[in-house]
Parts: sequence; C-alpha cells; structure tokens
Amino acid sequence: MDVSLSYHILRVTEEAAVQSAYWRGKGDKNAADQAATEAMRNLLNTLPVSATVVIGEGEMDEAPMLYINEKLGTGGEKIDIAVDPLDGTTLTAKNRENAITVISVAESGCLLNAPDMYMMKIGVGPKAKGSLDLSKSLTVNLNQIAEALKKKPEEINIVMLDRDRHQSYVNEARKFGARVTLITDGDVSPVIGAGIEDIDMDILFGIGGAPEGVLAACAAKCLGGDFQGKLWAENEAEVKRCQNMGIKDLNQVIKLDDMVKTDKVIFSLTGVTDGFLAKGVRLLDKKAVTESIVMNAIEKKLRKVQTVHTR
Ligand code: FBP
Repeated sequence: MDVSLSYHILRVTEEAAVQSAYWRGKGDKNAADQAATEAMRNLLNTLPVSATVVIGEGEMDEAPMLYINEKLGTGGEKIDIAVDPLDGTTLTAKNRENAITVISVAESGCLLNAPDMYMMKIGVGPKAKGSLDLSKSLTVNLNQIAEALKKKPEEINIVMLDRDRHQSYVNEARKFGARVTLITDGDVSPVIGAGIEDIDMDILFGIGGAPEGVLAACAAKCLGGDFQGKLWAENEAEVKRCQNMGIKDLNQVIKLDDMVKTDKVIFSLTGVTDGFLAKGVRLLDKKAVTESIVMNAIEKKLRKVQTVHTR
C-alpha cells in the first residue's frame, strides 16, 4: 500500500466534514451522520483500489452505507477500511466541540474485525509505549505509565467518557492522584491527543465503541503510541457475534499489533466542530476551510493540513 493514498484519504474526511458541517446545531444526529457517510462513500467509490469495509456503520441489514464487508473503489490494490464517518454525531447535532470525521486504511487482512459493540480500552502516546497491561488494574497501569512518562501522579491527565459505568475507574484514578477529564462523546481523539506532545492528555481509558477502538489503535500505530482493548459483550447475542467473527476468547486482551497487524496504515481526521485536534469547518461564501490531521505508520509522519475548498 503506497503512502500516496494519504492524499485521497484526506480528501475523504475533508468532504465528509464539509457535508456534515451543514448539520451542526440542527439537533439531527442521524442526518449529520448520513451526510458524512454518503460523502465518504461517494468519494471512496472513485478511488483506484479494491477496498473492503472491515469496521463500518454496522452490518449490512442495519446500515445502508459503509456496512461491514461493503466493497468500494474502482479496482486495484486490495485494502481494508476502518471508518467512523462522524465521531461525535451528538456533538455535531448540539454544535459542541470535538466532532471529527475519521477513516483509516490498511493493508488487506490486517485490521481486527470487531463487531459493533463495546470495548474496554486504554491508549497512550509513544513515550508510554510498552507500559500498558489491560489484564491488570487501572492503578497498576497508572503507575507504569507515570514511570514511563517521568510524571508525578498529579501531572497525569486521564480522559474517560462521562458515563456511570466509569465511576469506579474515576474514583481509582483520583485516588492515585491523577487529573480525570470527563468527556461527553468522542473517544478516538484523546488517543491522538496523548500522542501529540503539546496537548495535555496522557491516557484514554474506559468502555466505548469497539469500532472507535480499532480506529484509535490505527491512530496509535501511526503515532508510535500504544493501545490495548478487550471486547465487552453485554448479552449472549453479542457473544455469538464475536464468535461468528472469529473471536473465541472474550477475556483476551487484544494488543496493538493484533488489532493492527501492519505498519502499512494511513489515518485521517477532519474537524467538524472546533476541537483540540483541529478547528471545525469554516463555511464561507462559495468556500469552505477545513483542518485535518493525516498520518501514516509507513513513514511515521503526521501532517496538519488546512484546505480551502472553492465551490
Ligand atoms: P457517535 O458519534 O457514533 O454517536 O459515537 C460517539 C461516542 O462517544 C464514541 O466516541 C464512543 O466510543 C461511543 O459513542 C460511546 O458509546 P456510548 O454513548 O453508548 O457510551
């Protein structure tokens, strides 16, 4: 997979961000998501690749577009796509910060085929690579990460989704002495934040979407960071779905190199609303301005891109 595909992948998140930006603050999260999904699908279908969606909007019967196993592109090299067209559908509908459009592509057969369910996750930047062990307690992980980062507990910023299910972890992190940042939505961004030095974030922790987990793992791979996940089945039906996708042991901690089994991976995000990673889309008269981050693990490069789209 050639690194020049990055340009096309960037165009995909840019176009999706522009289309979903029209839905900011309109209270309709499904319309915002659909606008992003449709824009991505239309562009992906023009690319000279044979792409398969492995992480998408859901399975075929529940998602009209970008469903798992959907084939895209005009033909060419085989690649896998992991996509969350709009991470932060509610953030967009409520015009809150940090909604982004997200996609990652990788060498065929190298991404974890995760069902659309929850995943327990932990992600860090490059300096803390090798210090994660999701089979151990949060406190053990905090100690190892603090040591790797050479930080005191109070200097550690751990980000979690603001959900009741995280209360015991919030208590544990505060007991350790860390700062806990509670976000309403969007748990892909903090893994990237942890990998960028001038952003005050060290760890993403907690239970969120498994598709977002695989995307965050792709980002961690590009950044040289680290990530681990454990699928979190809530009922028998979800256990069955995992088994059907070849995941037999649900207690297994999935390490970064098992989630993303290659360095041939490209990741792009574009801001929809203003956020700590990118500014939101500026819609001007006959123009739109976007800010994106596009990175890859092939060259280990991260680019911040501002694009003026003349309509
Ligand atoms: P959507 O943009 O699809 O609404 O997802 C937002 C999100 O916050 C994800 O970033 C996160 O992984 C997931 O929802 C958490 O799910 P829940 O809201 O059920 O806790």
